[in-house]
Amino acid sequence: MADVKAESVYPEVVSQDAPAKRGFVAGTIAHFKKWWWVHLIVLICVVLIIIFPIIYVAYPKIAQTDVNNATLNVTSLVFSDPTPDTIHVNQTQVLGNKAIYHPKIYSFNASLGLAGSPVPVSYATVPETASNDGQVIIVDATLQLHNIEATTNFTKAVLASETWELGVYGRPQLKEMVLPKSTVTFNKTVEMKGLNGLEGFALSNVTISAAPGADGTNMNGTVSIPNPSVVTVPMGNITMDISVNGTAVGQTFLNNLNLIPGANIYPVKSLINNTLMLSFIGKSGPYPSGVVPLDISGNKSVYNGQEISYFSDALRSTSLRATLNVTQVLIDSGLGLLLGAL
Ligand SMILES: *[C@@H]1O[C@H](CO)[C@@H](O)[C@H](O)[C@H]1NC(C)=O
Ligand SMILES: *[C@@H]1O[C@H](CO)[C@@H](O)[C@H](O)[C@H]1NC(C)=O
Ligand SMILES: *[C@@H]1O[C@H](CO)[C@@H](O)[C@H](O)[C@H]1NC(C)=O
Ligand SMILES: *[C@@H]1O[C@H](CO)[C@@H](O)[C@H](O)[C@H]1NC(C)=O
Ligand SMILES: *[C@@H]1O[C@H](CO)[C@@H](O)[C@H](O)[C@H]1NC(C)=O
Ligand SMILES: *[C@@H]1O[C@H](CO)[C@@H](O)[C@H](O)[C@H]1NC(C)=O
Ligand SMILES: *[C@@H]1O[C@H](CO)[C@@H](O)[C@H](O)[C@H]1NC(C)=O
Ligand SMILES: *[C@@H]1O[C@H](CO)[C@@H](O)[C@H](O)[C@H]1NC(C)=O
Ligand SMILES: *[C@@H]1O[C@H](CO)[C@@H](O)[C@H](O)[C@H]1NC(C)=O
Ligand SMILES: *[C@@H]1O[C@H](CO)[C@@H](O)[C@H](O)[C@H]1NC(C)=O
Ligand SMILES: *[C@@H]1O[C@H](CO)[C@@H](O)[C@H](O)[C@H]1NC(C)=O
Ligand SMILES: *[C@@H]1O[C@H](CO)[C@@H](O)[C@H](O)[C@H]1NC(C)=O
Repeated sequence: MADVKAESVYPEVVSQDAPAKRGFVAGTIAHFKKWWWVHLIVLICVVLIIIFPIIYVAYPKIAQTDVNNATLNVTSLVFSDPTPDTIHVNQTQVLGNKAIYHPKIYSFNASLGLAGSPVPVSYATVPETASNDGQVIIVDATLQLHNIEATTNFTKAVLASETWELGVYGRPQLKEMVLPKSTVTFNKTVEMKGLNGLEGFALSNVTISAAPGADGTNMNGTVSIPNPSVVTVPMGNITMDISVNGTAVGQTFLNNLNLIPGANIYPVKSLINNTLMLSFIGKSGPYPSGVVPLDISGNKSVYNGQEISYFSDALRSTSLRATLNVTQVLIDSGLGLLLGAL
């Protein structure tokens, strides 16, 4: 039917044209008028064969390559409110994306943990975000800790290592302008600084009293703990064991310890066996110089009355060394007279 109609219109159009052009142009027009539907089908096929693979094969590959090339810098990782099986995290990171595409990244479920660990510490929802270079992404969530062993491995690495690797893994959907959504694998390893075994830990302003006070301690002082990382760790009320060359001499208590990046200065209280301590520095003791090496190792972490095993275990694997000039301490404490008796 279409053919017939086209041909019936055709002679009238041609009759008004210049006779010279008639041959080729008219032939072409006639051809399209007659065969337009073939051209349409061919066009559709070309679109299907060329455009669709671009959209559904090439574009997802480009998107994946761009995601693989993107970098992630964690600028702040703040843990808070630990309980035995949950912890709050506020993680700020900067996306590096030098690619020409800056698709929208839909909200996705990401696993967080030590890179390479078979079990993540937890899962968190990464909010929907743009993917511009320098885009700041904040994950602020309470994490459910399904695997305490994986969490303990994580806290051990953070406390003990000079550097450790954070692994973030997820399968977000992307959308670039009019292109359809594409799912990519987001698998990033972020190199992070750790607390380096609390290196630089120092004890100062130590004073002792002859008998324990009302709180049951007989020694106090100031502790300084540097934190070279961007991680904040809320250790709570911690107890540490003190020994001298393998002999237990007492315990030290640090309340509300929240290790923030930079310097951390806290008061400490201890219960020390003074008799034992004085015996070390006597003329016949092993440290007649009066300077005694203290070995301090973590014992437990309690937060809001509950022991936090993943901190306790990490603390137990951390041991610190501090030297204490007991002679100086006795003088500072007004107990210098005792020195004469040794
Ligand atoms: C992205 O990654 C590919 C292969 O991994 C690499 O050839 C390309 O140079 C990278 N592009 C940029 C901008 O880094
Ligand atoms: C999370 O950290 C960012 C900056 O690092 C801060 O702006 C934001 O207020 C923090 N959120 C909470 C709930 O503390
Ligand atoms: C991430 O950190 C590295 C090394 O500090 C730096 O070279 C890079 O520019 C940073 N990227 C972004 C997006 O901040
Ligand atoms: C995230 O993924 C993990 C593992 O697949 C799953 O257990 C968890 O329920 C997911 N979380 C959300 C909010 O979808
Ligand atoms: C914890 O670390 C130990 C020692 O590296 C390893 O054998 C174990 O598989 C780790 N556990 C988990 C759950 O990652
Ligand atoms: C993520 O990438 C690392 C290498 O960077 C690889 O070992 C690991 O298997 C990848 N994880 C997944 C789930 O693909
Ligand atoms: C030690 O105590 C003195 C006096 O109480 C104080 O001025 C000084 O800042 C303290 N030093 C430290 C490291 O806390
Ligand atoms: C530390 O001990 C000294 C001597 O026993 C005492 O005078 C001082 O008040 C104590 N300081 C603290 C903060 O408990
Ligand atoms: C202090 O240590 C000595 C020697 O080990 C011990 O006999 C004494 O009972 C201890 N004192 C206290 C208060 O624990
Ligand atoms: C430390 O203890 C060991 C044995 O446990 C002993 O041989 C050594 O002399 C002691 N050192 C000091 C300084 O007392
Ligand atoms: C630490 O102990 C003190 C005194 O018992 C308590 O008031 C405080 O809430 C405890 N801190 C934490 C973080 O549990
Ligand atoms: C320990 O303190 C005493 C008294 O202040 C001092 O004479 C001695 O030199 C100090 N020892 C060391 C090793 O600093």
